[in-house]
Amino acid sequence: AFAFGPAEVTVIAGDARETLPAWPGAADAWFLDGFSPAKNPELWSDRLMAEVARHTAPGGSFASYTAAGHVRRALASAGFEVERASGHGTKRHMSRGILKGAP
Ligand SMILES: C[S@@+](CC[C@H](N)C(=O)[O-])C[C@H]1O[C@@H](n2cnc3c(N)ncnc32)[C@H](O)[C@@H]1O
Repeated sequence: AFAFGPAEVTVIAGDARETLPAWPGAADAWFLDGFSPAKNPELWSDRLMAEVARHTAPGGSFASYTAAGHVRRALASAGFEVERASGHGTKRHMSRGILKGAP
C-alpha cells in the first residue's frame, strides 16, 4: 500500500477471482482495466463484478475503458448506477458508475 497524491493505493498480487473475494477492504474507486472482455472474459464475469460492488465503499465509483454491454449490465445488476460516457483517444465510449444507495 502507498500514497499517490491524495489517493491511498492498495496493490494485491494474484488472480483477482481469488484475491478479491478474500479481500477484507472496500475501495472508494475502481479502475477496471483488464484486457478486453473478449480476450480476458474471466476478469469481467458477473461474479467478479458482484465482488467489485461488494468491495466498494458507500458512494464509491468505478470507471473502465470498456463499454461492453454485458459488463455494464453486470455492474448494474451488482448495484452500480452505470452510465456510458464519451471515451478517450481511440475509444468512442467508456463506462463509469457510482454505487447506488449512498448516503
Ligand atoms: C490491460 S493490462 C492493464 C494493467 C495496468 N492497469 C496498467 O495500466 O499497466 C490488464 C492486466 O490484467 C491482468 N489480469 C488478467 N487477468 C487477471 C486475473 N484473473 N487476475 C488479476 N489480474 C489479471 C493482466 O495481467 C494485465 O496486467
